[in-house]
Amino acid sequence: MGDFELNPFYELIIDDLVNRKYSVVDCFFSEEEINLLRANLLLKQDLHSFKKAAIGQASSEQIVEEIRGDSILWLDEKEPDEVEQMYFNKVNHFLEYVNRTCYLGIQEGEFHYACYPPGTCYKRHLDIFQSDSRRTLSVVLYLNDQEWTPAYGGELALYLQDEHGNEREEIVHALPGRLVVFDSKSIEHEVKMVNHTRYSITGWLKTR
Ligand code: OGA
Ligand code: MN
Repeated sequence: MGDFELNPFYELIIDDLVNRKYSVVDCFFSEEEINLLRANLLLKQDLHSFKKAAIGQASSEQIVEEIRGDSILWLDEKEPDEVEQMYFNKVNHFLEYVNRTCYLGIQEGEFHYACYPPGTCYKRHLDIFQSDSRRTLSVVLYLNDQEWTPAYGGELALYLQDEHGNEREEIVHALPGRLVVFDSKSIEHEVKMVNHTRYSITGWLKTR
């Protein structure tokens, strides 16, 4: 392992993932980095057209707005702009650490910008497909404006099991700069009805 150095901040996230299969952190990116990422998203939204997101995969893909109402734009990791490069550097640094310490065998990531207009949601679902279970960790970074308040809705609800096997709903507000990491294979989740345009980068760390 050579000159391996413990990273206390990453260790907190990993502890959460091991103990409860999800983690919420507010300082993974600096406020300045969040502002850059948000500005970048807004720029891409003007330049490129975001596409209505589909549910299902490959031949069974379909757009059903009542189930999933966001529009997305996939990031191209081979041709990132400067701001996206910063995002990839930070996420990949974490990913390498997780691979070294948790042996998750993550090989690659896939990431998209997402925009939920008012009146949209993403009904309860799991992030893996029947035909493809490579997604291991889901990673959501909120890029909402600094004035974001709970009245804007769009909470992320995580459906968790308590120690008695009863279901519990954990509500996470989509605060700007907040990063949520969770187990793609076991945590069902939902984006509640949005009352104010909601922005994020959502990604998945996948095994081969
Ligand atoms: C998704 C998703 C959660 C969120 O895109 O699959 O569940 O809070 N996103 O945006
Ligand atoms: Mn999801």
